[in-house]
Amino acid sequence: MKLNSKKFFIAIVAGTRPNFMKVAPLFKEFGKYKNIVEVSFVHTGQHYDKMMSDSFLFDLGLPKPDVLLDTGGGSHIKQLSLMMPGLEDAWNKKKPDLVIVVGDVNSTLAGALAARKMDINLAHVEAGLRSFDNTMPEEINRRIVDQISDILFVTEKSGVVNLKKEGIKDNVFLVGNVMIDSLVQNKDKFVKSDILKKLSLKNKKYAVLTLHRPPNVDDPKIFKDLFSHILNLAKKMPIVFPVHPRTRPSLLRAIESMGKLSNLIIIDPLGYIDFISLVSSSKFVLTDSGGLQEETTYLNIPCLTLRNTPERPVTISLGTSILIGRNYALIEDVANKIIMGDYKQGSIPPLWDGMSSQRIIDIIFKKYDLRSNTGLQ
Ligand code: UD1
Repeated sequence: MKLNSKKFFIAIVAGTRPNFMKVAPLFKEFGKYKNIVEVSFVHTGQHYDKMMSDSFLFDLGLPKPDVLLDTGGGSHIKQLSLMMPGLEDAWNKKKPDLVIVVGDVNSTLAGALAARKMDINLAHVEAGLRSFDNTMPEEINRRIVDQISDILFVTEKSGVVNLKKEGIKDNVFLVGNVMIDSLVQNKDKFVKSDILKKLSLKNKKYAVLTLHRPPNVDDPKIFKDLFSHILNLAKKMPIVFPVHPRTRPSLLRAIESMGKLSNLIIIDPLGYIDFISLVSSSKFVLTDSGGLQEETTYLNIPCLTLRNTPERPVTISLGTSILIGRNYALIEDVANKIIMGDYKQGSIPPLWDGMSSQRIIDIIFKKYDLRSNTGLQ
């Protein structure tokens, strides 16, 4: 593609907490090439609470969104049906040469479909991950977005294999993990956080819990069962629980029926810096979040993964993740061993080195012949 004097215009779409730490390093890296590219930040508004969105944008040093849609809070279908016309309006005003979407949330799908329908080139960062569980909304989003993307950036080898099986072989690049770029770039800030002091915690003397997946939190019976094991564990070690908005109603019900939840420190969602700082100093983490499985692997913190069908196998084969699934009775056994110092040592997966956004930008520049247009090499 030959460009005239016009800069190559890229729109990066993000809308949820797990998107923001993936796009931040891309903005930072593209920022070095302002003479070649113009980059716009499109925030779909899927996550809209101060603690789910604004504090993340601030912590990660993200620019103010160029486009901010008002779409959060409704059903998935309602979210998608509000996001797509919002994106169309924005891109009708100024059509991007390339749209970049990240991850697997509804904002990813809306951004990808809108780009495709408007005949705009599409890149997917974090392509190829599969849980092979079509009841997960994220799995549907991943499969569709990968099928319609022009460039696919993959975090781990399994992603390349999965895409090949689905007939996607061209323009697939194993580049590592942009979320780890964010960890590497913010290292200095984590050590300065005073979150342990604020919560009166001591290094390695507590665990962290996060929960938001429907199979764990939506059914009151399942949630109560899970919680009874968590509470038993809390007798041995304090557990900090920053509560995701979708988990609040189930938690309130559990408190009503189970009474005081001793040694469980229930707090609002934290900003990125405080949260990673809290995780880095913890003894172990219990979670159903895919992103946190990756972050704990990089930070070498044992992670009890409360999922049946995880889509990031490298965090189990190489990393620190231990699959608990829905067999909640395992939680206490595994956690007790960790408390006694008996747990598997992980290693950091290939290319999770803080350089993934550079690799991505190099590939984009090559594919669209951007350096030669400016005389840069
Ligand atoms: C979404 C993503 C999931 C991601 C998770 C992380 C999809 C399909 N799922 O799931 O992959 O891991 O975010 O957070 O996109 N809410 C608020 N404030 C907010 C955001 C949400 O109160 O800032 C409420 C909503 O009104 C709704 C609930 O939380 O009641 C669900 O939020 P939503 O973002 O729609 O989906 P998640 O289940 O969180």
